[in-house]
Amino acid sequence: MMIGNRRILLSVVDSTNRYARDLLGELPEEGTLVTAESQTAGRGRMDRQWMSATAQNVLASLILYPEREAEEWGGLPLLSGLAVCRAVRSLATIDAHLKWPNDVLVDNRKLCGILVESGRLGSRPWVIVGIGINVNQVRFEGSYRATPTSMALEAGRPFDTDEVLAAMCGELDRLYADWREEGNPPIIAAWKQASRMLGQGVVVDENGVPREGRAVDVANDGSLVVEFPDGSTERIFAGDVTLQKGTK
Ligand code: BTN
Repeated sequence: MMIGNRRILLSVVDSTNRYARDLLGELPEEGTLVTAESQTAGRGRMDRQWMSATAQNVLASLILYPEREAEEWGGLPLLSGLAVCRAVRSLATIDAHLKWPNDVLVDNRKLCGILVESGRLGSRPWVIVGIGINVNQVRFEGSYRATPTSMALEAGRPFDTDEVLAAMCGELDRLYADWREEGNPPIIAAWKQASRMLGQGVVVDENGVPREGRAVDVANDGSLVVEFPDGSTERIFAGDVTLQKGTK
């Protein structure tokens, strides 16, 4: 297995994504995983913070050197969310599902968030997939847009975070091998099956202006296709998309 073959275990770090990025200069092997028990400046998408109680959850950053064209990198966030969704389902009877681009939810409450960063070092493209899975945390204090959930809350029992990590690495390994061989099509087909988002009402916020529409498809580049009330459709690449109230 390539994913997680090398693992760097940290006790406290500002952000595993930041640590992984600084490691790139040492040319760590592809699949290297940086994990920590706690983060002092965990980062989320859209410049948000990621908060996590010490030693209760999975905090991990994965280093990849994708060789496919950059147009297909939009499949990597989807692939990562799908891997976590499958891992969670393999360990417990938890009705986890996916929200574009890469959240894993249970009943619309967040179980896992993923932050994908990418760039080039010289001519070598890199992608860092930062994954936070709420495993054993049962109290979420602070301000959240919606209270998150955890595996323990959903299953009514604690889990071994290393087992969750191992299950996730196994799923990531399989899906990443598929992606390297065949690109986005098989990933997107599987993602659509594990998501309940298509057909649902969504609010798209691309630059502070929320617009209501309906999620209708995921295109081959990984973008979300949204249909608006005037019948027009648009591909959303990086916006913030929330499900409209009353839909799942
Ligand atoms: C989001 O839902 O906004 C993404 C959250 C990503 C959190 C993980 S935790 C491990 C890694 N290190 C970080 O600083 N962020 C990611």
